[in-house]
Amino acid sequence: MNTRTSDEIARAARTAVEAAVWAPSVHNTQPWSLAVRGDEISLRADPDRKLRLADAAGRQMLISGGAALFDVRIALRELGYEPEVRVLPDPDRPLLLATIRMRAAGQADEHSRLLYGEIKKRRTHRAGFTDAPLPEDLVEALVAQASTEGACLTPVRSEAAMRVLAALTNAAQDVQSDDRGMSLEIIRWSGPPGSVRQDGVPARGHTGEPRRTFPQHFDQRGYAWGNPCGSETDQSTSTSTGLVAVLTTPGDSREDWLAAGQGLQRVLLHASAHGVRAAFHTQALEFPELREFLRQHVCSGAFPQMIMRLGLAQGEVGSVRRPVSDVLEEN
Ligand SMILES: Cc1cc2nc3c(=O)[nH]c(=O)nc-3n(C[C@H](O)[C@H](O)[C@H](O)COP(=O)(O)O)c2cc1C
Repeated sequence: MNTRTSDEIARAARTAVEAAVWAPSVHNTQPWSLAVRGDEISLRADPDRKLRLADAAGRQMLISGGAALFDVRIALRELGYEPEVRVLPDPDRPLLLATIRMRAAGQADEHSRLLYGEIKKRRTHRAGFTDAPLPEDLVEALVAQASTEGACLTPVRSEAAMRVLAALTNAAQDVQSDDRGMSLEIIRWSGPPGSVRQDGVPARGHTGEPRRTFPQHFDQRGYAWGNPCGSETDQSTSTSTGLVAVLTTPGDSREDWLAAGQGLQRVLLHASAHGVRAAFHTQALEFPELREFLRQHVCSGAFPQMIMRLGLAQGEVGSVRRPVSDVLEEN
């Protein structure tokens, strides 16, 4: 039974929603809305923000929702609540991704607190990394973080597998760049320098030259790379690809996509707490035939959900978010 006042619960729920807002999402579409009723928070997908061409099935929308759900869970722990989560609780309401009931509990464990502290600091990287290799025990810890959520993070150690991933990423990128509809979809979600938009990937979300072996979705945006805010950071030493890794799930249901999102955010926050950032290259996964090829030939039959590079990075990266008032329905 809750021993907190309704005001305390309402304040905690709002803080949890503030944390959800800072989750990563595909092209920063922030495809979610949240509602608070008493001690229950509900998380919904917002189909108006789905990428209709690159993400017709809504897989990336649900991965993004899973990341937001993880933030809610961690924030509630930080605030002294045990989140009781029901994922996809109502088959008649497919957009309802999860309900989270807040149960009064004791103080959060140290690791949850560590992850909570990274929610607003974590940033997506879009360039090369420094040459410093990731410590092996940290890589093992990241793998363990993913598996806690029912996902699997596999570091790609073989040169051949890395070349396959890079080749398919390039192939997918070239096809997308040549496709007017897909190009327009990217442009719709990228903010030019000086934009005041609160969603999409802003110009300051890029630092330095992107890795040419792994092109970025936003290469085609056309504006100059580099930090338009005038950062003096020297990027010349950040030329390493970093550690390439694939996040997979054993199945490919909507539950799996939500698990992938929660696993992703757990990995990213743990990495961030150790000074490690991630860059994503999801183009090949946006073509069912390429995704199936990767599943069979690179992922040992598991379903690839995210392709990423992990490493130590220089330079500040910026991002934007919609205000809580835009995503929260309070009763
Ligand atoms: C499912 C998913 C797919 C993503 N794909 C890419 C990608 O292909 N390229 C990229 O640069 N960022 C990708 N991102 C990262 C988002 O662009 C990023 O989370 C968003 O712009 C918010 O910025 P932040 O992560 O720095 O807060 C992806 C994120 C998610 C959750």
